[in-house]
Amino acid sequence: MINAYTVIGQPIAHSLSPMIHTLFGDLTQRRISYTRTEGTPETFAEQVLQWQASGGRGCNITAPFKEQAVGVCTHLALSAERAESVNTIHMHADGRLVGHSTDGAGMLQDIEHNIRFRVAGRRVLMLGAGGAARGVLGPLLDAQPAAIHIANRTVARAEGIIEAFKDDPAATLPISASSYEALAEEQAFDLIVNATSLSLAGSLPTLPEGLFASEALAYDMMYSRHDTVFMGWAREQGAVVSDGFGMLVEQAAEAFLVWEGVRPKTRMAWPRLFELLNSK
Ligand code: ATR
Repeated sequence: MINAYTVIGQPIAHSLSPMIHTLFGDLTQRRISYTRTEGTPETFAEQVLQWQASGGRGCNITAPFKEQAVGVCTHLALSAERAESVNTIHMHADGRLVGHSTDGAGMLQDIEHNIRFRVAGRRVLMLGAGGAARGVLGPLLDAQPAAIHIANRTVARAEGIIEAFKDDPAATLPISASSYEALAEEQAFDLIVNATSLSLAGSLPTLPEGLFASEALAYDMMYSRHDTVFMGWAREQGAVVSDGFGMLVEQAAEAFLVWEGVRPKTRMAWPRLFELLNSK
């Protein structure tokens, strides 16, 4: 039997998920199929249910449906509750639709295991306070940094995230919020994560100089073949930089684990993925 998966988003034509999961299937010797589904806000819920009715074992959810997907699931894993979003739905044989959010675990796996940057005890700055930032905050807290500061154009939104996490068991460390301008008052950071949607537009908020501590890591959650504006800016200031390619691969591996019960050895997938990407 072939387990069928799809990724639903809008737009979806350029999603790399089919390529990644097909490779994972080969690496783990699982028989899977994986397609792309163009969603619309009006039909999204119905599309998920149709996929289930057609025998699908699960689906990935990408922009702009990750928040909407919460309401479609019958059950939520802790990861999805904390993120208030779902990027992976596991369709169980008994009809349950269990929502998971694997973005945060994927990002932490990339930062700690691929890049080998230990988050524990470090000062972390998150740029942005939208769905992407919220989605990774739980696993970031679990990694026990010394402090997390969230900077956003709309400060109230950053404060809202802090409020939502105030009863989280991992939220024993200091979390603070400010505007971008007020970052000039903060001590330097060891890890700066760009969770704004500005890289897509080839832009970056105006940020003060001197934000990076020595040997700091600048991590853009967006996948890009070339340096994003954020990465270029960080590189000029001596930071180690990374785009979100590793996060893309690792969040997919976490989803594959949810569905198939085995985590692909992602290191073995990287060379082939780079080769496939460069041939596109
Ligand atoms: P996502 O799901 O990708 O996080 P989102 O929830 O719309 O998308 O959040 C987008 C993030 O990028 C927010 O932090 C947003 O700042 P605001 O909360 O102030 O809107 C940030 N962002 C988008 N456009 C921006 C701009 N032109 N200048 C500064 N920040 C911007």
